[in-house]
Amino acid sequence: MIRRDFLKSCGALAAGAAIGTPLASAAGLTDPSLPLADGPDTSLNDLTLPIRSLKPEVKRQITVIVIGCGNRGNVYSRYAEMFPDAMKVVGVSDILPDRKDRLGNRHNVAQDMRFGHFREVFACGKKLADAVLICTPDDRHYEPCMTALSLGYDVLLEKPVAQTKKECKAILAQAHKYNRIVAVCHVLRYSPYFIAMREIVRSGALGDVVSIQHMEPIQYAHMSHSYVRGNWRDSKETTPIILAKSCHDLDILRWLIDKPCKSIVADGSLTFFKAENAPAGAPAYCTDGCPVGDTCPYNAIDIYTKQKRHLGVFDLDGNRDPEVILGRLLNPRYKSYARCVFHCDNDQPDHYVSEMVFEGGVTAAFSMEAFSPWGGRRTRIMGTKGFIEGDSAQFTLWDFLTRTPKVWNKKLSDIAEYKGSGHGGGDLALARDFVEAVSWQDPARLSSTIDVSIESHVMGFAAERSRKTGRKEKVK
Ligand SMILES: NC(=O)c1ccc[n+]([C@@H]2O[C@H](COP(=O)([O-])OP(=O)(O)OC[C@H]3O[C@@H](n4cnc5c(N)ncnc54)[C@H](O)[C@@H]3O)[C@@H](O)[C@H]2O)c1
Repeated sequence: MIRRDFLKSCGALAAGAAIGTPLASAAGLTDPSLPLADGPDTSLNDLTLPIRSLKPEVKRQITVIVIGCGNRGNVYSRYAEMFPDAMKVVGVSDILPDRKDRLGNRHNVAQDMRFGHFREVFACGKKLADAVLICTPDDRHYEPCMTALSLGYDVLLEKPVAQTKKECKAILAQAHKYNRIVAVCHVLRYSPYFIAMREIVRSGALGDVVSIQHMEPIQYAHMSHSYVRGNWRDSKETTPIILAKSCHDLDILRWLIDKPCKSIVADGSLTFFKAENAPAGAPAYCTDGCPVGDTCPYNAIDIYTKQKRHLGVFDLDGNRDPEVILGRLLNPRYKSYARCVFHCDNDQPDHYVSEMVFEGGVTAAFSMEAFSPWGGRRTRIMGTKGFIEGDSAQFTLWDFLTRTPKVWNKKLSDIAEYKGSGHGGGDLALARDFVEAVSWQDPARLSSTIDVSIESHVMGFAAERSRKTGRKEKVK
């Protein structure tokens, strides 16, 4: 269905055409006045844009150099294995030789195109591929991005764009100056769930959007892995958590509301993962025979060797044997993941709330929470004619006129290619759109321009200023 037809069909619905009668409980709803029927009304599935295949439509194959061969570098380069006619990895760069060679071998990269530090990629002063994928840590985005743009590369740039507002704006100016494509990895925008939600909002089925409540539940073990023990624990080395984790959410709010954010006020702090909360006798590392290990939900041995969560950082090559994982926790290269959560050098808040006002008075309340049993963003959108509530897997639309809730719950698993594409399918869908954009030299194939991506980052910097000063901050 093309977009115009879709909007038309939603408009008809909004005018009151009743489709089916849902079973309230099956839709996860509790209003006793709802009529009962056989099951949830999933007619939204037919009305929203179909889930696009990951197969790209390209003019020609594009070549890329992967800078940073860790988790994200591997995620995006998988696309080249799936669609070799569309994308080819011709270069790799990583300061860790084993990671560089593992990815280099997988893609048969020539030895002279295997680089250590990203500066080696640019040392020859000319372009060696169509694009670079910048997948280095947060404090190593600015320099390679600025250099790559000046040499004429198109860029897939991991978020956060850079560590300061000034650097973000310099990247924006550089992209304009050299007229290059920059795709910021706001992957949620590319997930079918959020695309469908936004299509419904844009159709007018909710009337005018008045406000949004949005929550990002990080999940307690994920919090301990990434923001207490792991790569993003120190806001100064990386970025404040509102950018490191939640720039996706600010971007999604900006995208759903489709108006610029004018002001923001934020609060939050690190309350729990601190030395003063350490149980008596807890050693520096969980692997040092902790006396309370059996009763601690943050026990690294349990999280990694038994629950087998977040194993991507251990370079296991698929070997999930508990003994091997324990060996990694004892190995100096990975030992920081064995640290007691109360004895880390972390400063990221474990709860963060903010309120935003957008043009026209639309408000959004956002809450990032460490202490939840599950992940998966929760969103409620309040409009003058309807309401949406979703949990990242499905969402329900309430029409105030028909009072018949309708559910969107399309399954990505129905499309084999999407298997293993993280962020609700957004990771590889972004790769597809980037490949198409570079192949056709058409940035409009991306969900967002670099300008809008920077705008949502500016919201994040304003939020952090507000959290620190206690003042409401203008977003500009
Ligand atoms: N879009 C998303 O949803 C998402 C999810 C996770 C991470 N990220 C972002 O992606 C980036 C990478 O995260 P990751 O989880 O892949 O980290 P990672 O640690 O797994 O990988 C980063 C790699 O960069 C390499 N590296 C470091 N310095 C380098 C240099 N000077 N030159 C070349 N290589 C260098 C490291 O050795 C490492 O292998 C971060 O900015 C992170 O915030 C984005």
